[in-house]
Amino acid sequence: MPEPTEPTAAAEAELLEQQMRDHLWPPFTQMQGVKPIVIERGQGAVVWDVHGNEYVDAFASLWTVNVGHGRREIFDAIAAQSQELACYHMFAGAANKPSIRLAAKIAEKLPGDLDHVFLTLGGGEAVETALKMARQYWRNQGKGSKYMCIYRDRSYHGTTFGVTSIQGLSVNRQKFEPLLPGFIKVGAPYCYRCAWGKEYGSCSIECAKAIEQEILFYGPENVGTIIGETMIGTGGVIPPPPEYWPLVREIADTYEQLVINDEVITGFGRAGAWFATEIFGSKPDLVTMAKGLSSGYLPLGATGASDKVYEAFLSAPLEMKQFMSGATYHGHPLCSAAGLANLEIIEREDLVQRCADLGPYMQEGLRTLLSHPIVGDVRGLGLVASIEYVQSKETREWFGATVGAAARVFAEALKRGVFVRLLGGGHVHAIAPPFVISKEQIDTVVRVLDESIGVVEKELGY
Ligand SMILES: Cc1ncc(COP(=O)(O)O)c(C=O)c1O
Repeated sequence: MPEPTEPTAAAEAELLEQQMRDHLWPPFTQMQGVKPIVIERGQGAVVWDVHGNEYVDAFASLWTVNVGHGRREIFDAIAAQSQELACYHMFAGAANKPSIRLAAKIAEKLPGDLDHVFLTLGGGEAVETALKMARQYWRNQGKGSKYMCIYRDRSYHGTTFGVTSIQGLSVNRQKFEPLLPGFIKVGAPYCYRCAWGKEYGSCSIECAKAIEQEILFYGPENVGTIIGETMIGTGGVIPPPPEYWPLVREIADTYEQLVINDEVITGFGRAGAWFATEIFGSKPDLVTMAKGLSSGYLPLGATGASDKVYEAFLSAPLEMKQFMSGATYHGHPLCSAAGLANLEIIEREDLVQRCADLGPYMQEGLRTLLSHPIVGDVRGLGLVASIEYVQSKETREWFGATVGAAARVFAEALKRGVFVRLLGGGHVHAIAPPFVISKEQIDTVVRVLDESIGVVEKELGY
């Protein structure tokens, strides 16, 4: 790991922090009382702030920088492309070389016949695109009444209005009501807190069957789409039981539904396969992706569609063939070049296999934290995991917001040089490091969390 360069001078660092407070309105951030952490540089799985403090980036920015920070190959690809063609649109037949090559590469990696790729600039846009494709798909079939869509509790798909309407975390939607009509929520496949009061092993996968009940309640002639993250991420990193997605597919086939799997976090290796659909036996009609597609070096997302969905546009009457959706920068040559260079690194360094190999080491390490009285559950897959904090292992009751146990552990871990992420309504830490993290760095993350949880437990009188 190279030594950090000289940190920004103290006065300049202070000025930056002041300017941030005065002028920059950051997303998902308390308006007052949050001390800015201005990140200056990164290398591999490590970042440094403007004061020269070093952190293990155990969340890869926002489960994004999968190939690690500081990849010269990606900077070079962006620079080379910018000299040839920095910007060109993709409307009405125009195209550019990197976006075509990227679409072909994504299609090669997507399972089954998900061979048709629509490029976006991020995850939320990819999901919006999938929702719109699904609506038009049914219209093109002469079944426009099937506009309703089922989503799940604890889901997160982005922040634009369409995807806010399929938000399963109430804090992310309540203040923006009324949202769009036509979306139906069902319980999540969340075994630790089963909405049906069941235990996995003696249940009948009620979480999947609830989808069938809603389709029947609203009528299959009105419901056309089921959307879910293959593995819930922001809602608390919640792997579904293995029966879940195959059963959802069966229900979808019975009642003529499209299935959209959101792979914005899990796409491109994090769960230990190119896509988590392969692990969980889901056979989606549409897949959404972002983050790991470019490892965040430039904004990039995509929606992959199956032959069936694509054909419904190709074979439609002339006025229905066109998908009237897209944005100025969709298929941007620089973003596509970054994506291609990123995927080449993942292939060349076999990083998907690395996630599969290193995943159990990380999961096992994190599971030792279960010895703490306030750690109720540790779960995950590959290089993505979560720790759920509870007042008591017996009752599984969460801490109140004023106690904020998980927030306190986060602060303690930060002091000790480890960045994790607080999510799942404030009761969960997620860990999703760059794929290049070393075993020693994983040990550091586990040790620091262990110490930090211990400090908070002591404060809380455990
Ligand atoms: C599963 C999932 N879908 C969609 C999104 C939205 O992606 P973006 O922030 O790029 O719009 C996220 C972001 O975290 C996500 O986790």
